[in-house]
Amino acid sequence: MSMPAAARNARRLHPLPLRIMHWTNAVAIFIMIGSGWKIYNDDVIFGILHFPDSVVIGKWAQYGLQWHFFGMWIFVLNGIAYLSYGIATGRFRQKLFPISVGEFLATLGDALRFRLGHDDLTHYNAVQKILYLGVMLVGILIVISGLALWKPVQFSELANLFGNFQTIRLVHFLCMSAIVAFIAVHVTLALLVPKSLVAMLTGGPVVDGGQPAGGAAAPEIEATR
Ligand code: HEM
Repeated sequence: MSMPAAARNARRLHPLPLRIMHWTNAVAIFIMIGSGWKIYNDDVIFGILHFPDSVVIGKWAQYGLQWHFFGMWIFVLNGIAYLSYGIATGRFRQKLFPISVGEFLATLGDALRFRLGHDDLTHYNAVQKILYLGVMLVGILIVISGLALWKPVQFSELANLFGNFQTIRLVHFLCMSAIVAFIAVHVTLALLVPKSLVAMLTGGPVVDGGQPAGGAAAPEIEATR
């Protein structure tokens, strides 16, 4: 039995693999941050900053480390899958580029005046694009600095790029802080626009009716750009 071409190629705004990877990432990040805070408490960088026991993961620093490595494997493998998927399917090219400076400034102005519209889920505004690309870069840097902290001898050349061990710790800590700041903004926006949250759970609207012969984009796609 053959399905109509449009139905066969129908795509959700957030295809299933993307949603699975997004939520897997959210769980992995939660584990990594909570356990990272436990490890940090054992040898603080800033004397005044200790994370309360109620927000850390792991009863002792050693358990914190074990949780951290457990989360790390999920985060890294899932992250590689997500980046490969985004590049291979053209999702990044389509959703995150091009970034217009004019739109960035206008959206930032709107956001600061609490006038951020989010009616069209199919289009990421320039601020979102920069935040998503930025958090991906920070995600890569936190893994690289984490590798240098974990195996400073085996990855000594990498470790040397940062300078000394304390500098690597600081870079790793600052990346964590950037991710926490991203999550605060990201989750607030998701809660302010509940339909974006629903779409990340259910897949959202069908946005792609397939490519008719001749290669032109289907009208549905054009309408959403
Ligand atoms: C409980 C926590 C989280 C919630 C509720 C949440 C919610 C969402 C929602 C609703 C979207 C769709 C945005 C839209 O349509 O405007 C989204 C996309 C995205 N989120 Fe999250 N998110 C969470 C955690 C995270 C974390 C921890 C990260 C990374 C560190 C992250 C990175 C992203 C990225 C990169 C996208 C764009 C995905 C794409 O379109 O390829 N999210 N998130």
